Amino acid sequence: MKKVLVATEKPFAPAAVAKIKEVLDKANYELVLLEKYTDNSEFLKAVENVDALIVRSDKVTKEVVEAANNLKIVIRAGAGYDNLDLDACTANNVVAMNTPGQNSNAVAELALGMMVMIARGNYNGKAGAELRGKKLGIHAYGNVGKYVAEIAKGFGMEIYAFDPFVDKEAIKKEGITPVDKVEELYSTCQYISLHIPANDKTKKSIGFDLLSKMPKNGTLVNTARKEVINEDELKKVFAERDDFKYISDIAPDCKDELAEFEGKFFFTPKKMGAQTAEANINAGVAGANQIIDFIENGNTAFKVN
Ligand code: 3PG
Repeated sequence: MKKVLVATEKPFAPAAVAKIKEVLDKANYELVLLEKYTDNSEFLKAVENVDALIVRSDKVTKEVVEAANNLKIVIRAGAGYDNLDLDACTANNVVAMNTPGQNSNAVAELALGMMVMIARGNYNGKAGAELRGKKLGIHAYGNVGKYVAEIAKGFGMEIYAFDPFVDKEAIKKEGITPVDKVEELYSTCQYISLHIPANDKTKKSIGFDLLSKMPKNGTLVNTARKEVINEDELKKVFAERDDFKYISDIAPDCKDELAEFEGKFFFTPKKMGAQTAEANINAGVAGANQIIDFIENGNTAFKVN
């Protein structure tokens, strides 16, 4: 019987675990569950004899891959796979996959939810502002960016997008204005929603040059990764602009140094864009199906290494 380890320091909703189990049971695969582990040694032990692994933001390091003697496939149940050591996977004949699009709506809803919250002064009871008529810039028009645009249209926002990898005509067809340069997005839009992955090119790429270009009451919404922000320059923007706001579902490392700007930022206690039962079910079940399809039929769709 093939064994599938679900290793989640931040667990899936119970309904998602039940659905994953259902899918695996049907294929005669065994579910091994490791949730809320506090020490990596628990992960290293649990992965030893399994054939497949499903994780969320859990770090699948070289050490983890090498501790897994039978591992054939690792699934990042989600979009960003910067937590997987792809070289180690490849070197050990382990296929790595993500589940793109499965948790995107949840992330997009949180981005808009946080925008409403900051526009209303974090619900402090005083007069705030509305999103209708305001300009929203979507930085990377992928799965999440598209959902953000769709929801923002309902709010009556004017939407712009920058994505060098997406055909401009396709963006225009959706009623969104594509821009040629990233600087133009930042200088045009009061709200910027970030959806770029964290990689060698994007890490620390959002800094003073872009943020200082934002119009009055510029608000950066980050449901991507904290690593894409240049934090020294973020602090400089806060120091120089008393109208700037930053909201994110992943607190920056410099969070404590921002205390004096209270009310101008908001960070969720844990990365929680994808923390809905629906997103957990979608991504978890897709991951379980991808494992079965790979092991039984050799299907490598969604392979990222
Ligand atoms: C993703 O890349 O899919 C999101 O950041 C979700 O991450 P999580 O599974 O750790 O919530």
